[in-house]
Amino acid sequence: MAIGRPGDRLPSVRQLMAELGVSPATVRHAVSDLVRTGRVEAISGSGTFIAIPQERLPPRSDTSWQTLALGADALEHHEARILEPIRSLVPAGVIDLASGYPDESLQPQSLIASAVRESVRRPGVFGRVASEGSEPLRHWFEENIDPERQHRALIMPGGQAALALVFRALCLPGDAVMVESPTYAGALVAIRAAGLVPVPVPTDSDGLRVDQIGAAVAANGCRVLYIQPRFHNPTGASLSAERRTQLIGLAEEHGLIIVEDDWIADLALDGKYVGPLASIDPHGHVVHIRSLTKSIAPGIRVAAIAAVGALATRLYQVRSAEDFFVSPLLQETALRVVTSPRWPGHLRRLRVALQQRKSQLWEQVQRLGGTQMVSGDGQAIPSPLHSVSPLHLWLRVEGLGPDNDLRSAALRQGVSVVTGSDWLPGSSSGKHVRLSNAAATKDEMAEGVDRFGRALQELRTGRA
Ligand SMILES: Cc1ncc(COP(=O)(O)O)c(C=O)c1O
Repeated sequence: MAIGRPGDRLPSVRQLMAELGVSPATVRHAVSDLVRTGRVEAISGSGTFIAIPQERLPPRSDTSWQTLALGADALEHHEARILEPIRSLVPAGVIDLASGYPDESLQPQSLIASAVRESVRRPGVFGRVASEGSEPLRHWFEENIDPERQHRALIMPGGQAALALVFRALCLPGDAVMVESPTYAGALVAIRAAGLVPVPVPTDSDGLRVDQIGAAVAANGCRVLYIQPRFHNPTGASLSAERRTQLIGLAEEHGLIIVEDDWIADLALDGKYVGPLASIDPHGHVVHIRSLTKSIAPGIRVAAIAAVGALATRLYQVRSAEDFFVSPLLQETALRVVTSPRWPGHLRRLRVALQQRKSQLWEQVQRLGGTQMVSGDGQAIPSPLHSVSPLHLWLRVEGLGPDNDLRSAALRQGVSVVTGSDWLPGSSSGKHVRLSNAAATKDEMAEGVDRFGRALQELRTGRA
């Protein structure tokens, strides 16, 4: 094989396997060695490149003036680094136990490919579409909330974009927003980026402690609550039936807007479908967000926000000032996928595969020792079956100091994990970690947990 020049991109793992006749594990080990010794550089999201010797780099320009020109905001936006572990591709040789996106083997690739082929033939698919989205796709989302279609859906390029829009459109800078503790770090980033202040509300194994809402409203004047009532990320809890009804009652009593992030509606492990909060909300308190990026593929960035009344109008106005519409080709593709007769079969296979991976991850983590699956209030959860979240384990790790850097230690061992401190508003506990069973295959997961164990060992003994 020809050796490239500095700056050249390394062939993919698959190409290297084919050319050298070796296993994926051998390629990954070799590449991580090269990265460790500085001979190649892994650039997240771009690939792996032959390192450029320092003396050949052009002199760096001095851009420090930009920090002054941008003002305080330049410092605020470093928050985006919090999303790095779940958004970016891991460098070659690193095992991904951080991302919640199912890997390619779990995506309905042939279904997507036929949907794209059919979509490109549809007249007008490269033209414009209404800002709120294509009518049939909107109807599909609306009917999934209630068959009468009281809600008006707005098609968005993914759930994260939907969260950012909702907080910008419905709150004013300085507003306090109630969030579950812990909660999805991406929502916290969107809340803070909109100039809002997250107010943590406790959770337990039945989800949000709705009995604490009154106190949070009284103390902070909150008008908005962000919640994931089904398969909460990261704890896996779902809001109990009793609390769902109580929450809608409290929203009516206090005039609250509930932002319902129904981020993996399609993935309930046992396939049981408990309707969204929006379906039991007669007076329009719930703004419902649903994304297809986990059940189809992360690159099919299609999600919807659904609301009624003045909330729906406000969302539509703010959205059309920022971005005219999501690509009609993508909308058409998503519609063809979710309405295909092959879609239910894909969801069944996906759920079974995720369940198997989750059980495997749980077994391996137990063998490791020194970690405990916990609910939001720190109670031990005896088995992953008690938490129906299909994608993650939320663990408390014993024996670590408060300022540990578990993520860096794990990366040094070649595994990417999400550490808990960015997911706990109002606390900086370094004791939690979220391990995902979505992005790594069975073999990779086994190796990934071993590497994670070595990282824990390194931190506990203080030896790198
Ligand atoms: C709870 C939650 N909400 C929203 C999102 C955004 O996902 P996407 O932008 O891929 O739809 C994620 C991504 O992991 C998530 O975990």
